[in-house]
Parts: sequence; C-alpha cells; structure tokens
Amino acid sequence: MNRNLTLSILLVLLVVIISVLAYHRYFMMTTYDDSSDCLPPSAVNLAQELLPEVDIFLRMYSSGVNYYDGLLIPSLKYFWPGNLSIVVVLDGENQTDRKLGEVLRKQYPFPRVCFQGPANPKIYHGLGHQRMQRDFFYPERFTSKKYVGFIDTDTVFVTRVTRQLLFEEEKPVVIGVYGPAADPFWSESSEITAKIYKTKEVMKCMSYFPVIIKVEHIILLREYLEAIHAKSFDDIFKMYAYLPISQFSWMCQYIWMFHREEYKFYFNQRPTKGNLTWRGENNSPGRVNHTYYNNVLTPEQRTPKPRTSIHYRYTAQWKKVETLRRFLQIGLCFSGGFDVCVEFCSNVEKNSLQEGLFHFEGSDWRWDDRCLEEQRRHYAVVKTMYTDKTTQAIVRAGCQEVVNLTFAIKKVDL
Ligand SMILES: *[C@@H]1O[C@H](CO)[C@@H](O)[C@H](O)[C@H]1NC(C)=O
Ligand SMILES: *[C@@H]1O[C@H](CO)[C@@H](O)[C@H](O)[C@H]1NC(C)=O
Ligand SMILES: *[C@@H]1O[C@H](CO)[C@@H](O)[C@H](O)[C@H]1NC(C)=O
Ligand SMILES: *[C@@H]1O[C@H](CO)[C@@H](O)[C@H](O)[C@H]1NC(C)=O
Ligand SMILES: *[C@@H]1O[C@H](CO)[C@@H](O)[C@H](O)[C@H]1NC(C)=O
Repeated sequence: MNRNLTLSILLVLLVVIISVLAYHRYFMMTTYDDSSDCLPPSAVNLAQELLPEVDIFLRMYSSGVNYYDGLLIPSLKYFWPGNLSIVVVLDGENQTDRKLGEVLRKQYPFPRVCFQGPANPKIYHGLGHQRMQRDFFYPERFTSKKYVGFIDTDTVFVTRVTRQLLFEEEKPVVIGVYGPAADPFWSESSEITAKIYKTKEVMKCMSYFPVIIKVEHIILLREYLEAIHAKSFDDIFKMYAYLPISQFSWMCQYIWMFHREEYKFYFNQRPTKGNLTWRGENNSPGRVNHTYYNNVLTPEQRTPKPRTSIHYRYTAQWKKVETLRRFLQIGLCFSGGFDVCVEFCSNVEKNSLQEGLFHFEGSDWRWDDRCLEEQRRHYAVVKTMYTDKTTQAIVRAGCQEVVNLTFAIKKVDL
C-alpha cells in the first residue's frame, strides 16, 4: 500500500480518537460541577448537647439571608438550649454565597458551611428551589452524623426545644399530616409521590420542623427508587422536578414503608369540621383512602404532638408583624417569661393552649382535647430548664426585642 495513504489513514484515526476522548471528557466529566466542599469549622464551632447525633441541615442561598438573620437565628437564640450543630449549604459557584459563607460561620450559631456545585441544571429544570430540594437527597455530602434535621430559612422556633419533642424512645419523632388536601399544590404533590413509589402516598411531611431522618435511610431511598425505575436518582428527579413535589413526603413515604419501627410516627388529621370524622372528602387521588388510617393507626399515633416551630411564610400571610409577635411572645412567656417578663406576659393567659405548638401552615389542631395534656407535659420538662441565670437573661432579652420586633423589622420584608 502507498506509504502516504497509510500515514494519512493513521492520522485520521488518531484525530478521530482524540476528538472522541475530548468530547467524552468535555460532556461527561467537566461540563457539570456536582462537587461539594465545606469550610473547616471556625474556631468557635461548638458541640451540640441537645442532639449530639444530629446535624441540623439548612439549604439556603444568599438571597435568603434576611430570613436567616431576621427570623430563624433570633428564634434559635431564644429557644434552642446551649450549642447547636448546624450545616448551612450554599451555592458553590456563586461568589456572593461564598462570601456569605465566610461571614456566617463566624457568627452564632457558628455553622459548618458547605458549598454545592450546580450539577447539571437539566436535573432540576434550572429552578433554584428544585435545585435545593435535590440537595436534600444527598445529605452524606455535608454531614458525617447519623441523622440530619431539615429546617427552612423561614422556620421560626416558638417554644423551648427539648429532646423529648424530637426523640421518643431514642427514635426521631415524625409528625405526618393526612386528610383533605390543603390546595391543588398538595393534591398534585401526593400524586407525584404515588408515581415515584408506584403506590399511594400516606402522609404529608412538610408538617413540622426539624424533619429528622437517618442519613443512611436517604441513601437507601435513592437506591430503592433507582431499582424500581431502573434509572439514576437524578434522572427520576428530573422527570418530576418541574411539578409540585415535596422532598419531605418522599422521605417519609420511604421510612414509613421500610423503617417504620425506627421512628416514632404520629399522624395529625387535617381538621374537618373540627373533629375526627373525616370520610375522605377532598382526598388527593394520590393518597391512600381514609379507611387506611382507621385500619392501620392506633389512637395513640393520632395524638396531636407539640411542634417546635412554625413555617413563617405559610403561617403569617396576613397581619404579618402581629402574627409573628404574638407567636414569639406567647412562646417566650410559656418558656420562662411568665416569671421574668411579667408585664410583657400580662395579656397572655397561662392556662390557654399555645397556638404555635399545634399550628402548621394554616392548620390548627387546638380543637383536639388532647392538646392540653400534651402542652402540660412539654412545659413540665421545660420548667426544669429555666432555673439558671443565663437562660433567664436570654428570655428577658427576648421579651424586650419582641415588644417591637427590633431584631426582625429592619431585615425582613414583613
Ligand atoms: C448569586 O446569588 C445572588 C443572590 O442570590 C444572585 O442575585 C446572583 O445572580 C447569583 N450569581 C450567579 C452568578 O448565579
Ligand atoms: C458550648 O460548647 C463549648 C465548647 O464545646 C462549651 O465550652 C460550652 O460550655 C457549651 N455551651 C453550653 C451552653 O453548653
Ligand atoms: C363532626 O363532623 C360530623 C360530620 O361532618 C358532624 O356531623 C358533627 O356534628 C361534628 N361534631 C362535632 C363535635 O363538631
Ligand atoms: C380503600 O382502599 C382499600 C385498599 O387499600 C380498598 O379495598 C377499599 O375499597 C377503599 N375504600 C374506599 C371507600 O374507597
Ligand atoms: C417600642 O416602641 C414604642 C413605641 O411604639 C417605644 O415607645 C418603645 O421605646 C419601644 N421599645 C423598644 C424596646 O424598642
């Protein structure tokens, strides 16, 4: 064969091979940054006494900092005893987020700060909210603890947090909600959970904070869904991420199906005419029917449980300042304020039911007679925590701030 022809063929082959390799490298490896990196703990990163086995997990971005500074952090100061172990996850490619991370880690509650790359935006249809939801499913990137406790930037704590509210018999408390769908969003969200699991959804779990889940169970959840769909988790997520989805409902569905004995499940029926006689009206087509709950749940599992916090943006749509002040005022009074903020608490009834304990996103369970006993039990525990001078000083300062919401008013668009 012609020597030149042979050389030319070899050359063409070489070019083809190099191009294929370069194409592969470019599109499969270097285009999408799905990496995570975390800043080492700042000098004052402190151990958490209340829940040593849990990292509180907050996925936010720099635009959410007003909620963080104005609502979440002050409420944690008033109501979270001692040190808090919290991971804040920000957008890794965003320089504003990177700078914010440097600031946050040096301030109370001294979070570990992690950055997550944008990955392939097609997975979450370029939507920031869905991007954050995806990151909830990869907690092992951000913590080495046994559990994560998910909260939002607009979580507002409204009572002294005790271990008893979050763990019973050393199992995380889960408070699911069932009953008539709150609105079309939640009805559709149930239908998607049902499609994802190929079986009907049992509960809504965006119904309390923090949602504490074993990290290992979230990894197993991904593997389970990958097995039943024969797709990667990201490909499954991508199929639904432009529709209403609830990451917490996906998680609760999984632990209810496969790890029921490792959590302490409670179920609150959404109120229908103020009693427990719901007969399936306005149930989402994606949900099990009302007979399921009657057959499967014990009366004890239907006890209304006190919550630690409210979901501010979905609680106080109207009269925001008044609502927020009232939730915080009543919480402070019950959590020690009756003794140290006498005037501030003079219009709060000591024997009343505290709405904040039994309210979530517009649903209010105070009509259930059992709330009072639950509230008494919680505050009997809290009472034992309020004897020291440091705690009393925190409560007193809180009462003064909440009078005019001096901490929040400048920062948050109330
Ligand atoms: C970074 O985040 C800020 C605030 O959320 C946003 O306004 C800005 O567009 C982001 N920048 C990039 C490069 O994504
Ligand atoms: C918080 O943690 C620090 C360091 O681990 C410790 O010195 C301090 O006593 C803790 N604070 C409380 C209130 O327990
Ligand atoms: C409970 O609901 C049922 C059905 O809607 C109604 O007939 C009944 O009066 C209600 N009971 C109370 C105590 O509200
Ligand atoms: C409720 O669901 C069960 C199966 O889970 C079914 O057997 C039953 O017929 C359903 N009841 C109603 C009223 O739809
Ligand atoms: C709260 O506001 C009132 C007037 O609305 C003012 O007189 C008072 O000094 C303020 N208190 C604090 C602690 O800022």
